[in-house]
Amino acid sequence: PKEQSFAQRLIAWQQVAGRHDLPWQGSRDPYRVWLSEIMLQQTQVTTVIPYYQRFLASFPDVAVLAAAPIERVVEHWAGLGYYARARNLHRCAQQIVAVHGGFFPKTAAELAELPGIGPSTAAAIAAFSFGERAAILDGNVKRVLCRVFGISGFPGATAIDRKLWQLAEALLPENGIEAYTQGLMDLGATLCTRGTPHCPACPFADNCVARRDGRQKELPEPRPR
Ligand code: ADE
Repeated sequence: PKEQSFAQRLIAWQQVAGRHDLPWQGSRDPYRVWLSEIMLQQTQVTTVIPYYQRFLASFPDVAVLAAAPIERVVEHWAGLGYYARARNLHRCAQQIVAVHGGFFPKTAAELAELPGIGPSTAAAIAAFSFGERAAILDGNVKRVLCRVFGISGFPGATAIDRKLWQLAEALLPENGIEAYTQGLMDLGATLCTRGTPHCPACPFADNCVARRDGRQKELPEPRPR
């Protein structure tokens, strides 16, 4: 597809068919956005929702979280898995208080220096909280881009990863970064799923390379062995 039309189509789709009622939407508070993005890194939305709400009730802001004993933080994580996330979350809160005066840094580049925040999570926080035009590239987004643009090769390989980051950056819209970023996440989670995607409902059904060639099941390519 033409690069100019990708973002506009995605934003239009997000507005009518994307998710709008998740508990962390509707707040630009970077603390809430950060907490939700960390929980969502390896865990599905439906599992995260009650954890997010309990966590926020007990630790309403970054200062309260930083001052809490790690044991209490881990207790609130019990059942979510990947406990390194809870330890990094606590370290990150302490660093924000000690180094940044209790305020989240406002750029993706600075956010990516904090514990537990990789480049894609940093971009999501910067986009949702501060409206920064920053590219996300998690596993779901890689799958969408590999299919729509027909990118072969294992996306974990350095050369393919570079190409995907370049593409993700070239596709960013001038305006509407929040709907665009949410749209990419929603498309990967609800239509352009692993296994059998729901192509007829996709905004890129008429110009997706994988669909055109019947390669939805082959893209993205698995790790070579
Ligand atoms: N997965 C990662 N971030 C997400 C978000 N903000 N909304 C829904 N799913 C997500």
